[in-house]
Amino acid sequence: MVNVAVIGGTGYAGAELVRILSAHPHAELTTITSRQHAGQPFSDVYPAMAGIVNLTCQAFSEDSVSEAADVIFTAIPHKASMGVVPGLIHRGKKVIDLSADFRFKDPSVYEAWYEPHEAKDLLKTAVYGLPEFYSDEIRKASLVGNPGCYPTSVLLPLLPLIKAPFIDCDSIIADSKSGTSGAGRSVSLTTHFCEVNEAFKAYSVAEHRHNPEMDEVLSHFAERKIRVTFTPHLVPITRGMLTTIYVGLKKDVSAQEVSSCLESFYADKPFVRVYPKGSFPNTIYVRGTNYCDIGFQVAEGTKRLVLISVIDNLVKGASGQAVQNMNIMFGFPETAGLDQPPFPL
Ligand SMILES: NC(=O)c1ccc[n+]([C@@H]2O[C@H](COP(=O)([O-])OP(=O)(O)OC[C@H]3O[C@@H](n4cnc5c(N)ncnc54)[C@H](OP(=O)(O)O)[C@@H]3O)[C@@H](O)[C@H]2O)c1
Repeated sequence: MVNVAVIGGTGYAGAELVRILSAHPHAELTTITSRQHAGQPFSDVYPAMAGIVNLTCQAFSEDSVSEAADVIFTAIPHKASMGVVPGLIHRGKKVIDLSADFRFKDPSVYEAWYEPHEAKDLLKTAVYGLPEFYSDEIRKASLVGNPGCYPTSVLLPLLPLIKAPFIDCDSIIADSKSGTSGAGRSVSLTTHFCEVNEAFKAYSVAEHRHNPEMDEVLSHFAERKIRVTFTPHLVPITRGMLTTIYVGLKKDVSAQEVSSCLESFYADKPFVRVYPKGSFPNTIYVRGTNYCDIGFQVAEGTKRLVLISVIDNLVKGASGQAVQNMNIMFGFPETAGLDQPPFPL
């Protein structure tokens, strides 16, 4: 059994961590922190958890969190994370950070897209928490930078194919649609009901902060520079993300060649399901689960491959993936706490 704390437990990603950890067979949730809700029972903030989570939210204190937990999830905004993570790491704790602060290997890329980095030294040892590709490193890590939701949905379909000789790495276009919970719980006009309901819009076109994150990982695996043209969209659903990726092909390939690359890579990976040619995933097939479902089509006569992935942005895109990382770090079964079947519809 491992003792666990969630920093920022009243945000959407934090509350999803609390939900998953409350039923985890090897984790004891001991601490939930929040500034706005300190002193309030967690179940007052999220009444759905009444009778399931009996903890009271606390203000963050490095001393009390370190005393109460062996592993700490930081589910707070970027910049805030780099303020608390170094102290916890120096006390010998394991940390899984859900913000962007520890995802980049190159601090200058982080600084170009976010802000000055105040804990650059930790970037050398932080591991990018995409378990399907970095599980050996995650197993030994003290600090995991949990991936962004958009990069997760782009990287999982693309990475097994990126070194295939038929892929044109200079032609990748990714187009994602995200549910509104991706923007977090704090109130803003952008996510106001009247602005989102019955609406569908693109934003941060070809300049979203998740673009350099996916480029860095793809370039690492391709062993050459890759720049994805990436456009995110906001859709009027609460949770879920669907990504469509268009990739140029250097030669005609059969669906069989594509499917054998994907299927052979994911055969022993519990959370990625590859669909047969001509079947395509839907966000409702993965709602509330840690699955990433992938479909594809070779567009006849166009030398282009289309890949489609779906995830739940709060689970495989955030908190489920973070728990998967904890499982690997502590030698628990990778699926522990994450093995509930999806809703059929
Ligand atoms: N939502 C998603 O789908 C998603 C997906 C992947 C990654 N993430 C990442 O997960 C983290 C949390 O996102 P979220 O969507 O859960 O956001 P959120 O709903 O806005 O929650 C943020 C949480 O952090 C706390 N907080 C806010 N500002 C803080 C500060 N300056 N210092 C300490 N705590 C602070 C808030 O509680 P108090 O104000 O009460 O302290 C709240 O508990 C972010 O880094 C985000 O990028 C989110």
